[in-house]
Amino acid sequence: MSFSDLSTPVSGIPDEPGPDQRWSTWPLTTPTQRGPEPRPAWVITASAAWDTELGVLKTGKEADVHLLERSIPGGEGVVLAAKRYRDPDHRDFHRSSQYTEGRRLRRSRDTRAVERGSTYGRQVQAGAWAAAEFEALSTLWMLGAPVPYPVQVHGTELLLEFIGDGRAAAPRLAEVRVGSAELSALFDQVRSVLLLLADHGWAHGDLSPYNLLVHDERIVVIDLPQLVDVVSNPSGFELLERDCRVTAEWFARRGLAVDARALTDEVFACLG
Ligand SMILES: Nc1ncnc2c1ncn2[C@@H]1O[C@H](COP(=O)(O)OP(=O)(O)OP(=O)(O)O)[C@@H](O)[C@H]1O
Ligand SMILES: [Mg+2]
Repeated sequence: MSFSDLSTPVSGIPDEPGPDQRWSTWPLTTPTQRGPEPRPAWVITASAAWDTELGVLKTGKEADVHLLERSIPGGEGVVLAAKRYRDPDHRDFHRSSQYTEGRRLRRSRDTRAVERGSTYGRQVQAGAWAAAEFEALSTLWMLGAPVPYPVQVHGTELLLEFIGDGRAAAPRLAEVRVGSAELSALFDQVRSVLLLLADHGWAHGDLSPYNLLVHDERIVVIDLPQLVDVVSNPSGFELLERDCRVTAEWFARRGLAVDARALTDEVFACLG
């Protein structure tokens, strides 16, 4: 064997991540930036793992969702959704401060940077949205709500359970064409989510058929950076009413006998 042969891995697997790859960012996260226990068996925590970019899933108003595969070189891999928040300069839409009322940044240095609008401050703000969504998803997942499992948050990037088959994402509710029995079953699931949230005093804050995925006939709720505390948020009641109305009206337009007022009343009666 010549000396140069020693640098070529016997397995044929390269030693370093290639283009569109990076080392897994899992080891860079602290325990509070990792998803809740019990952790699903498919979560890869090995520090020898790599993340491979598989492309953009969807560019949104505030974040872009990319497809990522985390795998142990030569071994198993899992497809994840990587939601990357943009700094406020690169957003098409600013969620109004009605959502952030009451949110405090931990470090006063960060608060000042956000107020000054420095580059660092804008990064902090994008990171705050990612952290807020991670926290909301973790809480809801632990309550058994149908949300993607939040794998980790690192800076402005959130890694989530990918809802779909293979590399094909599950459709949004707005895109599915189903019969009335199935539509009715989907409505029941959305209603249960609204009741579960209200029971804890929360509203989604941006619920619509675009933030609900349908996978194997199950509803999965996404896009939760603004989970609203209905009582403490000055716009809480308004946002909860809108979540109920937008959802009920969509199902009603599809021909289901649901009444927005009745749903709203039922959900408000459940407010914990
Ligand atoms: N965990 C996931 N699994 C599969 N697809 C996902 C997942 N999370 C997000 N998506 C896809 O990415 C899209 C955007 O995600 P999300 O709504 O969270 O971000 P957003 O920036 O608020 O987007 P928008 O501005 O379109 O509401 C979703 O509509 C969905 O198609
Ligand atoms: Mg969305």
